[in-house]
Order: sequence, then C-alpha cells, then structure tokens
Amino acid sequence: MTTVLQQLKPAFRIESIVTLDKGVNITWKDGHESFYHYLWLLDSCRCSKCFQRDTLSLGHGHDLLKMPLNPTPQEVKLNREGNLDIAWGGEQTGHHSVFDASWLRVHCHNDPALKQKRKPQLWDSSVSVPHFDCSEVMNDDGVLLSFLNQIVELGVAIIENAPKNEESFRALIERVGPLRQRYHPTNVFTMDKSNKKAQAIQHSYQVETLRNHTDVTAYDIPTGLQFFECTFYENPDSDRQAYSTVVDGFKLAEVIKTQNPWFYELLTTEYIPAGRKRLSVEEKLGEYESSAKKYEWDAYRRNHLIQLDENGDPYQIRYNHNTRIPLEVSFDKIHDLLAAYKRFSQLLQDPEYNAEFLLTPGKVLVVDNWRVLHGRTGIWNPDLRRIVLGAYVEEESFRCRRRILLGDKTGMSDLWLMGCSDRALEILGDRY
Ligand SMILES: [Fe+2]
Repeated sequence: MTTVLQQLKPAFRIESIVTLDKGVNITWKDGHESFYHYLWLLDSCRCSKCFQRDTLSLGHGHDLLKMPLNPTPQEVKLNREGNLDIAWGGEQTGHHSVFDASWLRVHCHNDPALKQKRKPQLWDSSVSVPHFDCSEVMNDDGVLLSFLNQIVELGVAIIENAPKNEESFRALIERVGPLRQRYHPTNVFTMDKSNKKAQAIQHSYQVETLRNHTDVTAYDIPTGLQFFECTFYENPDSDRQAYSTVVDGFKLAEVIKTQNPWFYELLTTEYIPAGRKRLSVEEKLGEYESSAKKYEWDAYRRNHLIQLDENGDPYQIRYNHNTRIPLEVSFDKIHDLLAAYKRFSQLLQDPEYNAEFLLTPGKVLVVDNWRVLHGRTGIWNPDLRRIVLGAYVEEESFRCRRRILLGDKTGMSDLWLMGCSDRALEILGDRY
C-alpha cells in the first residue's frame, strides 16, 4: 500500500539530513539540496505556542526579545511522517519544532525558481482571448482557477453564456471577490448612450472612439480587475461600431524598451500626474434607478506610466489620456518625456497590438486593469443601441481568491499554506 507520503513527488520528500554548525542541510529525493539556518528555523517555528492555530499568526510564545540569536538544537531528525523535527537545547530546552517537508521545500533559500514570478505571456493583436463558460465558472472551482490563471498569464479573458442581468453579473464577480466601492453611488454601472446625464460627465458613455486606457489612473490604488458584460447590441449597419479593443500594456513596455531605451527610462522614472474631480454631481447611472444620487470625488496622483517591481519588471501600467493634467517635469526633459508618452500612445492604437472584437450580448470581458488597456471603437449611427454593465474588483481580492484556490489543490493545512508566496502555492499545487 502506498502511503500519502509516498504519493508526493520526489521533490517534496526528504532523502537525508545532515546537521551542520549553523543549520541543517537537506537532500531531497530529486537530488536537490537545501540549507536551513537554525535561527531561521527557530524564528519560523509553527508549534502551538509560537504560532496561534486559530488566528494563524505569531503567538505569545514567540517572543523576539527572549529568543536567543544563536539557538542550539539538541536533536535534529526526520520523523515518521517524513518531516523535519527539531528539539531545541540551551535556553530553549523543552521547545520542539516540526516543519512540514513540502513547506520547507518551497522555502528553500537556494532555489532561484522560487524567487521568480511567473513570467506573463506577452501578446499582440493576434491574441486568442481565452473563453470560459459562465455556469462552469460559477459552479466549478477548477474552472474558476483556470480562468484566474489566464488573467495572471494574459491579463484578459472572456466569460460567455452569462445571463443578461445585473444580479447574475454581480454574482459572477462575487465568485472572485467583493465589488470594489466606487466613488460613484453605484458599484455596477450601466453604460448606455441613451443616458444623457452620464454622457455629459463620462467619456465612456460618449459616442466617439474611446481610446485605449486604464481606469482610475488618478486613484492611489487603481482597480484590479474590470468586468464588462454586454447585455444588448443592435447595430443597423452591421459594421465595426462599438467594438471592444484591448492592448497588452506589458507588451508595449517591452516594445519601447527594445526600440528606445531612453523613452523606457523616462516612462519608468518620470512622474505623469493624473487628476479627476467631480463634486456634488447628481448622477443617475442605471436606467432602472428611480432617482439620481450625488457623489463627490477629487483625486490627484503622480505615478510612472510604467511601474516596475523589485525585479525591474513592469507590474502596473497607468495611462489615461483623459485624466492627464499638466506635467510636473523639469523643462529640460519635457520634450523627451512627451515624445516618449506620444510613442506609447501611438503603439496603443497600432493595429499590430490593438486587438478588436465585438462583445456580443451574454459575453463578459474581464481585463486586469493593472496591465491591459481597454477601449471601444466609435459609434456613428445614432440608432445603434448597446448596453454594457461594468464593475470593479480590487487586485488584492483577485489575488486572494486565486491563492485560496491554489491552496485547496495542495491538500495542506492552513497552518502551512498561510504566508506562502504565490509561486510557492503554484508549486505546492502540483506536489502529488
Ligand atoms: Fe474604462
């Protein structure tokens, strides 16, 4: 009979341990070697005194003020479950730590793969946007995870066969997380050009071409995911009016980096301020709402158009032509900064990168607003009718849902899943 331990892939099973002066060396069954410092192990102890099982956070037994910085192990062994077992000596006599082997493996300090984020798949207009069935996303956690994985990979996906009403739209979004509170009175907005009031104050309700952009660039933290569901489309001309457009911002960043490193440097280091002000505006966003509501909003933010993470890779694009305000750049750089900004704007409309498609009724377009820029082709026939529902989810909520689903796949307890990096959870999901 194979035990649960034997079902684990060799990478998650310990072959042997050797105690050294400062820590313990583990050889894994796949041949990989890891070293764990004793102080790191003691500081990471998950015994019930050091770590509270109910709150999943450090407990009172973990007192850094009392913790020796040169801990001495009394006995280090591999226990029957194949986990690392340490009985501490010296000032810590009586203290006992057991470390889950799989957890140790994804905390290996000399595995460079663990420190890397999954590289996004960059795309141009030839992208084939992945489609998911709405009822499968609603009922199957595996499909929900595949959908969220695609958002991580490509930043865009379409959910089809969705019921064409606000309640179902809201329920679909809540599969991922709570709707983000907007500064507007409503969290689900209905884009319909017959809404004259909204048209007067919102670019997305107007009939001109809506240029590719990210939303809410003037916010401190921009919206993560954006959901758009088309509930109605009738075009008497049967041409490409009110088609959706999407562009991979990370792809454009790469194009600029390759073609013009100086432009790239400017767009990643110089600040482009953004502002948006709406005060005491009475707004009726939904056609079914009985009365208009008031909202007040005055946002200002300085950010780079291309935001880089600790590895120097883009993690966020902020670009919205409509919310740009006067530049705060030194005049010796204004020419080059605007030339760089203009280059990004040109690439945004370039058919090579700009994917265009019709969002037919019952389809929900989901974009990662930290990466993918979205827009819409113009409407020139006054009789064209199109209704789109829209709503936001925080980037954090989306990442949390994906982490929870990845964790479920591992079969591990929250004690060990808690605090693992996204990459670690991805790896642990495949440990059997
Ligand atoms: Fe938008």
